Amino acid sequence: MVDAVMIRAVAHEEVESFAASASVPVINGLTDRSHPCQIMADLMTFEEHRGPIAGRTIAWIGDGNNVCASFIHAAAKFDFRLIVACPEAYRPRPEELAYAPGRVEITTDMRAAARGADCVVADGWVSMGDADHAARVAAFAPYQVDEALMALASPEAVFLHCLPAHRGEEVTAGVIDGPRSLIWDEAENRIHAQKSILAWCFGAIG
Ligand code: NVA
Repeated sequence: MVDAVMIRAVAHEEVESFAASASVPVINGLTDRSHPCQIMADLMTFEEHRGPIAGRTIAWIGDGNNVCASFIHAAAKFDFRLIVACPEAYRPRPEELAYAPGRVEITTDMRAAARGADCVVADGWVSMGDADHAARVAAFAPYQVDEALMALASPEAVFLHCLPAHRGEEVTAGVIDGPRSLIWDEAENRIHAQKSILAWCFGAIG
């Protein structure tokens, strides 16, 4: 009945099992494991403002979650260095890291991750489907992107966030509403990036 399906699910396996039975392209619109459509928009936004992402350094601050997993996949595909700063208990899954050998470094030290980075990225501390709210807030409290952290990054560094954001938690208002934040262009670019994903699925672009 339709030419393509995009599914936003909690369980990644639901999208995989749907796709296995589908006769049309099935697009992952977010699962508990990955969020590729978001990252296409993020890369587009970075390149729009700062040029090619290849060879650049991206600092991911916080949860080694679905969005982080897609940044790991992108690091391999688009040839950039990704430094993930996260608490031990919230590291990215080894299966994701295995996708990008040599491209990703993991640390618990967010200052080390941000130092000299071309882009600093954050996400909420609690994602859709997460039950351990109190434990997460406690674990991520030291991982707030604030002005002092951004000052360690490259002078040209930009800030990205997939939204929804929680000012005063993973990012301060001063950063997300400040001059280095690209969040509104990033949000707009979701539609442009998703149009190109559809065009690719239909064989209209290579
Ligand atoms: N990590 C977040 C991303 C929201 C776009 C979540 O899964 O809820």
